[in-house]
Amino acid sequence: MQELKIEHLVKRYPGRDQVVAVNHVNVDVQAGEMLVLLGPSGCGKTTLLRCVAGLEDAQEGRIVLEGQPVFDSATGLNQPTHLRDIGMVFQNYSLWPHMTVQRNVEYPLRARGSPDRAKRAREVLEVVQCGHLADRYPAMLSGGQQQRIALARALAPRPKVMLLDEPLSNLDALLRVELRTHLRAIHRELGFTGIYVTHDQLEAFNLGTRVAVMNAGRIEQLDSASTVYERPATDYVARFLGIRNVLELRSEGGGWSSGAGRLEGDLGLFERHKGSLQLFLRPQALRLHVPGAPIAQVGHLSLAGGHIVESLYSGSEVDTVLRVGDVTLYASNPVGSGQFKPGDPVTVSFESRSALLYVDGKLAPQ
Ligand SMILES: Nc1ncnc2c1ncn2[C@@H]1O[C@H](COP(=O)(O)OP(=O)(O)OP(=O)(O)O)[C@@H](O)[C@H]1O
Ligand SMILES: [Mg+2]
Repeated sequence: MQELKIEHLVKRYPGRDQVVAVNHVNVDVQAGEMLVLLGPSGCGKTTLLRCVAGLEDAQEGRIVLEGQPVFDSATGLNQPTHLRDIGMVFQNYSLWPHMTVQRNVEYPLRARGSPDRAKRAREVLEVVQCGHLADRYPAMLSGGQQQRIALARALAPRPKVMLLDEPLSNLDALLRVELRTHLRAIHRELGFTGIYVTHDQLEAFNLGTRVAVMNAGRIEQLDSASTVYERPATDYVARFLGIRNVLELRSEGGGWSSGAGRLEGDLGLFERHKGSLQLFLRPQALRLHVPGAPIAQVGHLSLAGGHIVESLYSGSEVDTVLRVGDVTLYASNPVGSGQFKPGDPVTVSFESRSALLYVDGKLAPQ
């Protein structure tokens, strides 16, 4: 069942350099799903959430909540926020400072006149493991506790849809991991439908039933977390995920070359392709060899004539920066997989199936 449907949504901010913050976005969020919006600063994540909440008026499109339109530019329908049955949690906890935790969580229930609000507030405080804090005031709580209370307050009226805008980004790294795990468990237990905004890919992969990667107001890819990670649909997504090794390829003398020289080995990957080709490689995919050492041919590619720039020990792995021709590459290999010093000559190889090939910016089919 679709809990939330966003159709052709457009939100422009007027001004001299008019910004199209949300640019023809179409998304269906299924009941019980946690859809994560992932993207860099300014790509329109918050604006999209605010449009769904009714805190921002879009210029075009339609928003449908459980089969009922709440916004429709064609008919002029624009239901106010308090009628939309949506719970919201933002980066800043925005609890009422003069109310106890219990009263904060009861607040949205009081506004609806729920008779069992005290009981419901206690229940939901237990869910976020803060039952013991009910009588405290927000100023007497840690950031992580305040964010749990904000979550409890949003969950208390059992909204159809929860909107969460970077709710963990004000917390320190350790607490973020803890609360992320807890949020995952709460989502599994309560099964609410949610949209969760973040620019942190680990958070997106941990929490997302599906992940939508946004670019300048558009959704660039919408897939399961594992598909986004393993098969980034465009070079933009690959770059956003931090895949740092990029070879811009050109066809030359029956083979393929880049700023890192000529690719040797099994060129089957490139058959059928022409146009502008880019090869993206994760650091873990690169293997380093002493020049002249044997390299597997079938299904492998290699680049010769490189040298080591820096070798950084990081505990379980050695991160190596190397230079091949005009290109800087980054390799990450288990400790003990070869000893190289800065200045050493090196040949790099990789399995062609570990390479991501983009033709005119789009991932080539495997
Ligand atoms: N009230 C506003 N008036 C004009 N432009 C705005 C307004 N709010 C946002 N924008 C612009 O709209 C675009 C999208 O902003 P938005 O806040 O949705 O981005 P975001 O993806 O949430 O970024 P961040 O990760 O930094 O929170 C940006 O270019 C921003 O400058
Ligand atoms: Mg934002």
